[in-house]
Amino acid sequence: MAYPGKNPWPHLTGDALIAPSLLSVDFARAGVQIDAVLAAGAEILHIDIMDGHFVPNLSMGPPVVEKLRRYTPAPLDVHLMVTDPGFFLEPFALAGADSLNFHVEATDKPGQLIARIREMGLGAGVTVKPQTPAEAIAPVADLIDLVLVMTVEPGFGGQSFLEDQLPKIEAIRAMLTKGQRLEVDGGINPQTARQCRAAGADVFVAGNNIFAAPNPAAAVKELRSAIQ
Ligand code: DX5
Ligand code: ZN
Repeated sequence: MAYPGKNPWPHLTGDALIAPSLLSVDFARAGVQIDAVLAAGAEILHIDIMDGHFVPNLSMGPPVVEKLRRYTPAPLDVHLMVTDPGFFLEPFALAGADSLNFHVEATDKPGQLIARIREMGLGAGVTVKPQTPAEAIAPVADLIDLVLVMTVEPGFGGQSFLEDQLPKIEAIRAMLTKGQRLEVDGGINPQTARQCRAAGADVFVAGNNIFAAPNPAAAVKELRSAIQ
């Protein structure tokens, strides 16, 4: 089976990366807005997959990823908020995901899922919800490209940043090596991004802060100055 994606993380060498979350894009003008945020310097597009079960919301499926893959060469960072991540790895890989991130809360076999993602040549990440302790990633810490720390309860864009996640970001950073990334997602704006950066995060997902702004390109640049 041919998987179009390629692990992007070894090639993204910037100190701090910006990942606009397409959950908040204006879908009627998605191409224009994607072009604008990439031209403004965003490195990777974040795609939130929700199954209406792991989280109480529905978002996008593999056909959307497939269209995005055809539209842009930008790396696609797929965040699976689904009850059965094992079932969805293959369809999203075939659709063109470059990196697959699943929740540790959704599986008791994270090592097997990571091995499958690796076989498909993609980046592999694990995600923790706000109530999940840092130790939950310990069994797979040396197998992954990145950890995604949710800084809101997953399910919806536009929520307020949970400051109590900062100590966990520090704890997880201490468990990772230099080449591994720590991504934060939820309520990220220039101010909260700066706090997360100080705690050790280096990939910044932002939905509303970028796409609900009057000028998404300017919002990317403001976020960049905050984390530089
Ligand atoms: C929330 C998603 C996020 C969301 C972030 O469950 O994982 O990626 O799009 O949106 P903002 O940046 O608006 O909090
Ligand atoms: Zn996300």
